[in-house]
Amino acid sequence: MKIEILGTGCKRCNDLYEVVKKVVEETQSTATITKVEDIMEIMNFGVMTTPAVVIDGKIISQGSIPKESKIKNWLSQNGKIDLKELVKQQYNALALASNDQQKCCCNPLAPANPSKKVYTIMSEDYTKLKGYEPDADLGVGCGLPTEYAGIKEGDIVVDLGSGAGNDCFIARAETGETGRVIGIDFAPQMLEKARKNATKRGYTNVEFLEGDIENMPLPDKTADVIVSNCVLNLLPRKDKIFKEIYRVLKVGGHFCISDVVLNGHFPKEFTDNASMYAGCIASAIQREDYLSEIEKANFTEIKVERTKTVIIPDEVLQENLDEETIRKYKAGNVGIYSITVTGKRGCDCGGRC
Ligand SMILES: C[S@@+](CC[C@H](N)C(=O)[O-])C[C@H]1O[C@@H](n2cnc3c(N)ncnc32)[C@H](O)[C@@H]1O
Repeated sequence: MKIEILGTGCKRCNDLYEVVKKVVEETQSTATITKVEDIMEIMNFGVMTTPAVVIDGKIISQGSIPKESKIKNWLSQNGKIDLKELVKQQYNALALASNDQQKCCCNPLAPANPSKKVYTIMSEDYTKLKGYEPDADLGVGCGLPTEYAGIKEGDIVVDLGSGAGNDCFIARAETGETGRVIGIDFAPQMLEKARKNATKRGYTNVEFLEGDIENMPLPDKTADVIVSNCVLNLLPRKDKIFKEIYRVLKVGGHFCISDVVLNGHFPKEFTDNASMYAGCIASAIQREDYLSEIEKANFTEIKVERTKTVIIPDEVLQENLDEETIRKYKAGNVGIYSITVTGKRGCDCGGRC
């Protein structure tokens, strides 16, 4: 196993190196540890915050000094990546990078970091929508789920993977004072941004909960409408989420979700790339498999309301992938689409009513 510690020589970077070295020695691991201090080399890994740990070419953590127990866990997993942890770290870093005041020695790549571009290639223009909050718009969505969500005044709306709250504030403009909007996200820095935005606007009926959307911190049959924008593709277990959406929707409730789907397969080197995964591209599944998961969860009236072709700019490919991987990717002719899909939750009678 090859462990690389990325850092520009700051104290935290050296502390991280020392703690990883200690754990490697204690566990008698055969892993090799190298320091990477050159800023250009660090950027090539696609990390946004240092210090960072890369194991066998994959970013494992960034912007923090993990506990010894966590490092031991990495070693015992022999480099197997916890994809959820990777996604959480990337979006925490993105939230931090979007705050100008976070520019400091340990965040050398923010906020004009070119590798951020992979997260924003699918974004939509929200600026003319009622409820638009510029500070909540990080450009990381891939559609406009509220457009087809049929939100009514007084509705309870839940937004899965709410980020800085972009879609929640648009939904709030539709539910009005009598409704309620609940955003759920697992990245603490995103939640902090979202809560600040809600406070700034003086909203008392928009709240942000910390949690994993695969196990939402909400009782059964809470929501009239569930929306989500460019999030479900990031879940390693795509089969679980639509069952969870079904559980949290009220009988007769519905969802409207924008997400990325594929037609064709990426080369392995492409799917292994952390930025391409967390950027919602390599994490996507085949379109028919996605729709089939919705059917399997017993939703009715499933409709793809909108399909948009996604083109990855050459600049983004070059920033994140080597030439050979780009060549293989282009030869594969994979179709990448952002779809906005709706579905309805029927009743629990099992067809008797
Ligand atoms: C591509 S961003 C989209 C953010 C927001 N929907 C928007 O359009 O601005 C994905 C968001 O989903 C969150 N996320 C990813 N997986 C999650 C999970 N399993 N549970 C909760 N939040 C998750 C990330 O932290 C991130 O804020």
